[in-house]
Amino acid sequence: MCGIVGYVGGRKAAQLLLDGLRRLEYRGYDSAGLAMVAPGASDGFGLEVIRRVGHVAALMEAVPASQAGSTGIGHTRWATHGGVTEANAHPHVDGTERIAVIHNGIIENFAALRDHLQEEGVVFRSETDSEVLPHLIRKFYKGDPLEAARSALALVHGTWGIAVVFADHPGVMIAARNGSPLVVGKGDGETFLASDPHAIANYTRQVVYLEDREIVKITREGWEISRLDGRPVSHVLHELGIELGSSEKGLFPHYMLKEIHEQPESLSRCLLGRVVPETGGAKLGGFDLSPRDIVGIRRVGILGCGTSYHAGQVGAVAMEQLARLPAFAEIASEFRYRNPVIQADDLFLAVSQSGETADTMGAVQEAQTKGGRVMGVVNVVGSSIARTCGRGVYVHSGPEIAVASTKAFTSQVAALLVAALMFGRTRVLGPGEGRAFGDDLLAVPERMAGWLDTYGMAHHGPIIDAVELLTKARFVFFLGRGVSAAVAMEGALKLKEVAYIPCMSYPAAEMKHGPIALIDANTPVVAIVPNDLMRDKTLSNVQEVRARGARVILIHTEGDHEAARLAEVSIPVPKASALITPLLTVLPLQLFAYRAGLALGRDIDRPRNLAKSVTVE
Ligand code: M6R
Repeated sequence: MCGIVGYVGGRKAAQLLLDGLRRLEYRGYDSAGLAMVAPGASDGFGLEVIRRVGHVAALMEAVPASQAGSTGIGHTRWATHGGVTEANAHPHVDGTERIAVIHNGIIENFAALRDHLQEEGVVFRSETDSEVLPHLIRKFYKGDPLEAARSALALVHGTWGIAVVFADHPGVMIAARNGSPLVVGKGDGETFLASDPHAIANYTRQVVYLEDREIVKITREGWEISRLDGRPVSHVLHELGIELGSSEKGLFPHYMLKEIHEQPESLSRCLLGRVVPETGGAKLGGFDLSPRDIVGIRRVGILGCGTSYHAGQVGAVAMEQLARLPAFAEIASEFRYRNPVIQADDLFLAVSQSGETADTMGAVQEAQTKGGRVMGVVNVVGSSIARTCGRGVYVHSGPEIAVASTKAFTSQVAALLVAALMFGRTRVLGPGEGRAFGDDLLAVPERMAGWLDTYGMAHHGPIIDAVELLTKARFVFFLGRGVSAAVAMEGALKLKEVAYIPCMSYPAAEMKHGPIALIDANTPVVAIVPNDLMRDKTLSNVQEVRARGARVILIHTEGDHEAARLAEVSIPVPKASALITPLLTVLPLQLFAYRAGLALGRDIDRPRNLAKSVTVE
């Protein structure tokens, strides 16, 4: 969740590290800091540590343009242990202030380690779990940075991505990984380190991804990687894809708005070459499944968190309907600890934008431990989940920087629909049915683009009217049935995280079993009612909340005037077949969250308490 960046080379490192931190800030933004190994006032080198609470901009102001030092580490924090204070910000240093450490992850046995170190006379200056690391490394330091870090980590339980610099070794950085991603980048006479390749993609395209329980000694000439237990390892260099480049806001005021508007394009990329009209089927080469393999699948489990879980819910319905395969979606953090029953003919799909979500990774590992087949449905190329699964598909949304996920959702849904079509065509669908579905899917990007042209930037009209109701509300309900129940959950999540408006989502018919008690005059209810088999029944549920005074914002298929008449604000979306509707009905919900957040003065791209990629449990 935090971001790490490091540099060893010939240039002044500080501005380079700050640039990397700015690119990583979406991963965590409570506080930021850097440590430079710089020539001291008198003899030799010393450490200069600068930390600030708040966004990276605050750190940028604090670091002088002339800051010396060609070896350094930088960190942007999402607080776990200890409040958001300068003392808790990273880097942390040892008692002699000659070793500095930045850390992502959680040291689970930090309390025992701290007690032990305190008994030995070590004085702690923060409330963090991370601070045990520099003190432990100091304890084992006998002149060899690599061995000191290796010995210290042998005592640590938990997850870590760390980077360490030593004032005694100006051209050396040590890094290690266990459950928190790290990538090392090769430059010309310089070497980079980051928790996310975005941070260094402007400087190098050649990287290696560290694996769990590996440690690396980095110098400007290159690196040596070994296992924590001392065994040597070798890695091949990966070339970073070009999609890493385009992560600027351009003319949009916020990444979230930009990413909402990118959806026609990101969706086209996701579908490109995958839907095959000639056969009425689909092709996902990354799955590497023959028709015989597909026939042998008995059950599909889709695992993910947050928005990715909601996409998985749509995927599970599609698997059942198109492929007649029993399917379920489950929140990864629940799946991983419930000792699930896994059979050899199950197929699991791990859905993740970042590919680094700790809970989803845990679920993948649990399924694999029990002999399950797991494939990734991932956006970030080369991410930990993608690599751990080994097989799967990339959704090709391009970089998603706003913490609120938008274009990743539509691409995840599309990739899962393509998978359902591929499985369905092999198992039960005829060419005509398959082709009709595929054609409908391929038509969505253009329909999306048309809808966004009309509503995406409008300063008046139904989106603005709806936002007016939502921003005045104490509480908002989102309702839908079938795949629209998943869309309702997604709409509620967006409004909570971006606008901080309390809301709840429910399968519409479930309301009358309790939650309808919350409805009173003026409660806004957002109902997602596309023209599918559940339309009439959902409209009856809408009548039930109207009868109790709710103010209904209704999202419906274009031309459905009867549905529109039930609403105070009605928002048409283009026609599509039932399973495809989430790709369109979610658009107004994304805009509600964006516009409501804006109206309420929220930090749209970096909502409070959140981080883009959740790499701790
Ligand atoms: O990177 P992932 O897709 O695995 O992330 C999962 C969730 O943390 C993520 O979708 C989160 O719910 C978003 N902030 C929602 O907008």
